[in-house]
Order: sequence, then C-alpha cells, then structure tokens
Amino acid sequence: MMVDVKVIEDIAGMRSYVSGIKARGDTIGLVPTMGYLHEGHLSLMRKAGELSDHVVISIFVNPTQFGPNEDLDRYPRDFERDLDLASSVGVECIFHPRSQDIYPKGYATYIHVEGLSSVLCGVSRPTHFRGVATVVAKLFNIVEPDIAVFGEKDYQQLVIIRRMVADLNMKVKIVGYPIVREKDGLAMSSRNRYLSQQERKKATVLSRALKRAEDMFYNGERDASAIREALVEMIMGEDGCNIDYVEIVDADDLSRLRTINRKAVIALAVNIGKARLIDNTILDPSL
Ligand code: PAJ
Repeated sequence: MMVDVKVIEDIAGMRSYVSGIKARGDTIGLVPTMGYLHEGHLSLMRKAGELSDHVVISIFVNPTQFGPNEDLDRYPRDFERDLDLASSVGVECIFHPRSQDIYPKGYATYIHVEGLSSVLCGVSRPTHFRGVATVVAKLFNIVEPDIAVFGEKDYQQLVIIRRMVADLNMKVKIVGYPIVREKDGLAMSSRNRYLSQQERKKATVLSRALKRAEDMFYNGERDASAIREALVEMIMGEDGCNIDYVEIVDADDLSRLRTINRKAVIALAVNIGKARLIDNTILDPSL
C-alpha cells in the first residue's frame, strides 16, 4: 500500500500534527531511525502499525551519538529512497528535523544512563549512549508516542532506553523487535554499505560464529568462557576481522556472566575495513 507520507521538519509543526491525533483519541507508534532504511527498519514500522493507529518515524543522523573520529560525515543518506520505503509500509509521517533545531545554540542538557552505558559498546564509544538517550528522550517529548519500537540488533541501546523510560517515568511503552538478517545471515545495517565485496563475505563470520555458540549452548554448554573462546577463535580465523569485544552478559542488566544460568546475550562488535559491525544473540536456558 503506497500512501502519501507527510514530511515534517520543524518541531512546532510536529507538535500540532501530534495534537490533532491526540484530539481524536488515536494512538501514535514511533520508530526512531537515522535513515538509509532497510528491511530491519521496515519491520519495526510494520510492527508499530500493528500496535498503533498512526505510525510516525524519525530520520535524524544524530551528531551527539558519534565520537570525534567516527562516521558522522560519511553516514549514508538517501531521503527520497527512504520516503518511498516508508510509504510502502504505511508510515504516515516522517519527522526529519534539522540538527540546529534539535541542538540549538546554548544546548546543555544530556541524559546519562549510568552503568549500562559504560559496558560493551560503551567502552570504545564512551559518549555514544548519552547521545542516543538524549535524542530519544527529545523525540519522545516532541512526538509523544504511545509505543516506540526498537530493534534487538542494537541490544544495548534497547536495554538503555527501557531503563531510561522506567527511571524517568516516561509514559511510552517500549517494544523490542528481533534482528532482521540478510539471506546469508549478516544482520542488516546501514553501515554494511561500507564493506567491499570481499569484506562483505568475511562479515558472515559474525552470524556464523553466533550460530555455533547457540549450538554449543543448546547442546548443554553453560560455561561462558568456553563459548566465548570458540566464538573468538572463529572470528580471528577470518583475516581482516578485528574484534572490539565479544561478551556474554545478563540479558537484563548486561553484567558479565561466568555461568549461563539465566537469560543471557552474546554481544559482539567487530571492525572489518571501515565498518564497525555489531551483532548478538539471546540465549535462554528455559528453552
Ligand atoms: P538506526 O541505526 O537507524 O536504527 C533504527 C532502529 O532500527 C533501531 O531501533 C535499530 O535497532 C533498528 N534496526 C537496525 N538494524 C536492524 C535489523 N537488522 N533488525 C532489526 N532492527 C534493526 O539506532 C539508531 O538508528 C539510533 O541510535 C536512534 C535510536 C535512531 C537514535 O539516534
């Protein structure tokens, strides 16, 4: 179904669109994105459509979540293509703000979710989640969604946002959605386009290694370091793959586990060429 998507760039415009919906007693589902949409994003939008009356997405490459030597300037963008894709899944409105409106001169307020923001990706990206939490809180204040859908692809981000929403008594309900993968297993990501053809092939080692780890786990292995070592060895066997981290952590509080006796996540980040790729899988001992 192709529908006309409303594109709103200013905050005041967004607020008046939102009040119209609220006046009718309808609900809003929000999917925050940085654009360059792929099937992973679109799945979140379809989910938001199942759970709410009006789907709003945001497309905003948020400068505060990029470190000084990261890819802010070359982050891929294609607004026209995004517009078509969003329209194909029934998105009603795209909030596409300008950086200077989100962070005007004198901007000084940030949200820091302690502890959870300093582990895993937080070690090599120390200011990343502060930028994410801040922009997501601002989007929640502007769009006032009833629900917001986030991907498990960015598992740590999802945990941090859930924490922020609980801690700050925000009314929005956070919904997580499973990782959408390419046919060969690579988790979809806007950053996959940084990979050369050869690197793209190597990158499948991430999901292959996670699969191997799942097999070990579901065959009874509960020792986190045994599983971790098998994963690390497999990834290091592929040259050009530089591990940032491979960790097995509690699925709720992200604390490191020695024995996998409760719901856990294997989370990893690997640099391949110019791309920093993340992936994860959930291990559930009750299954
Ligand atoms: P972005 O990387 O564009 O991702 C937007 C949403 O899509 C996130 O919730 C992310 O987890 C989800 N997503 C990305 N790839 C996915 C995949 N393969 N399967 C399922 N979901 C996937 O994450 C961000 O933007 C930003 O940090 C943001 C939350 C918008 C704040 O700036």
